[in-house]
Amino acid sequence: MSKRSIILHPDPRLKKVCSEVGEVDDTLRKLAEDMLETMYDAPGIGLAAPQVGVTKRMLVMDCEKDEEAEPRPLVLINPAITRVSDEMNVYEEGCLSIPEHFADVERPAEVEVSWTDLDGVAQAEAFDGLWATCVQHEIDHLDGVLFIDHIKPLRRQMITRKMVKLKREKARA
Ligand code: NI
Repeated sequence: MSKRSIILHPDPRLKKVCSEVGEVDDTLRKLAEDMLETMYDAPGIGLAAPQVGVTKRMLVMDCEKDEEAEPRPLVLINPAITRVSDEMNVYEEGCLSIPEHFADVERPAEVEVSWTDLDGVAQAEAFDGLWATCVQHEIDHLDGVLFIDHIKPLRRQMITRKMVKLKREKARA
């Protein structure tokens, strides 16, 4: 496994609609392993392929917060939301591509998602709580949507300006 570098907002690669994954092959399995390592190392609870520069519909996540519990790494290929609850939930979201910025985002509290796993097998599951927020946030990435696209424009512009400055400083260092 090897860590990949995470693309920081603003970047045109984070605004692309990703393409469907065709065949699940070794290249994709290697990418999934690398993404999980990158996510755990960050640390984060979710990471989408475009965040490491691959515009394909794949994401990884693990929202298990209990440190005593076993990790629960999930790899979702071509994920699709098949049902959303009427009930909504607000979570303070962050993103590995927008470090150190957080904002409240309202999303359906429960979602049913179908996807293909790394063995090429169809899976489906209902997610709630943090898992529901995370899976919706990550699927958004596959459509070029960031969590700040769900907040007020003024706040979004402020965060983007700070990110531009941060990237400039990083480039100089
Ligand atoms: Ni994100």
